[in-house]
Amino acid sequence: MPKQDEQIQRKVEHLFLAEKFFTDESFAGFDGIRLLHNALPELSLDDIDLSTNFIDMKMNYPIYFNAITGGSKQSTKFNIELAQLAHKFKIPVSSGSMGVYLRLPEKTKDSFSVLRENNPDGFVMANVSAKVNSEQAQQTIDLLSANALQIHLNGIQELVMPEGDREFFWLANIKDIVEKVSVPVVVKEVGFGLSRETIAELYKIGVKYVDVAGFGGTDFAQIENARNHGFDLTYLDRFSLSTVESMIESIPYQDKLTVFASGGIRTPMDVIKALRMGASSVGMSGLILHHLQKYSLSETEMFVHAFVKQLKIIMAVIGAKSISDIKKAPIIFDESLVNYAKQRQIVLPS
Ligand SMILES: Cc1cc2nc3c(=O)[nH]c(=O)nc-3n(C[C@H](O)[C@H](O)[C@H](O)COP(=O)(O)O)c2cc1C
Repeated sequence: MPKQDEQIQRKVEHLFLAEKFFTDESFAGFDGIRLLHNALPELSLDDIDLSTNFIDMKMNYPIYFNAITGGSKQSTKFNIELAQLAHKFKIPVSSGSMGVYLRLPEKTKDSFSVLRENNPDGFVMANVSAKVNSEQAQQTIDLLSANALQIHLNGIQELVMPEGDREFFWLANIKDIVEKVSVPVVVKEVGFGLSRETIAELYKIGVKYVDVAGFGGTDFAQIENARNHGFDLTYLDRFSLSTVESMIESIPYQDKLTVFASGGIRTPMDVIKALRMGASSVGMSGLILHHLQKYSLSETEMFVHAFVKQLKIIMAVIGAKSISDIKKAPIIFDESLVNYAKQRQIVLPS
């Protein structure tokens, strides 16, 4: 198979393997957190406002569809559907990595541009790896008229892939991209989480938005291992930071930059807990892709509709009229998270 087709084939395999390994269970750590209900909520369900700003645009809900796909025929279908849902619910949507567009623009551009065509006024993010240069990053932004650029850090994933990168000099390049491109830049992981030290490095070079993309849902060590017939590196999972641990890691930086939470989001309660932990908005990839792969678009729409309705119910339970009120709900951490925070010398919210 020519190398170009291998890159497209890899994206197709990611879709297939994400579904194969999808489980309703999350390992993101949300079970270790409890929110206390408010027996005197003093509010009407109708008054609850779920709207929130995503970077600089008002969105209807504090959730977004995180990076998934592009490049193949299958991706085109999913990107059309993701964009239609994003448009319908007025929530942000991201493309999958556009490296394949930079290498094969004519062959793959439609699979990405459908994100904007089907969501003309919405918040769309272009997604690239940390090794593209600033002109290439700008080309991906231009194709989508993107409102923001996501740069993904995927060192573990590359190392597990036999054909993956072996050179990881990214910081100076990210700094250059942040300084030169026309839109805000979000730096994200791909499911292994960001540590406090990494967030500190990113902050130092001028990054203002990070997405922790922690462990607990889609697992690229597992996915790439399934494609890798050489050796088994599944133990690299245990190196990862769960989404909850990574949100704890972000606490010392939450007053300096905007933090998005993603990784292993399965329920509306996970979203509310992530917001309580300081997230500005909460991303999901595996969960929405699973619905689109297993069910129809209209069934997925019903799922999203029910999901956001449940967000409102949980907000009523904890007495929160707005997204910012969620941050006032009393929160309890289990012993292992208390111990984690203590060892990392981070003060947990109370
Ligand atoms: C099939 C699939 C492909 C993905 N491709 C990308 C990608 O190209 N770029 C990226 O930044 N993240 C990619 N991700 C990672 C997600 O954006 C997210 O960070 C990670 O899956 C954790 O979220 P989840 O548990 O909700 O899936 C992909 C996820 C899935 C399921």
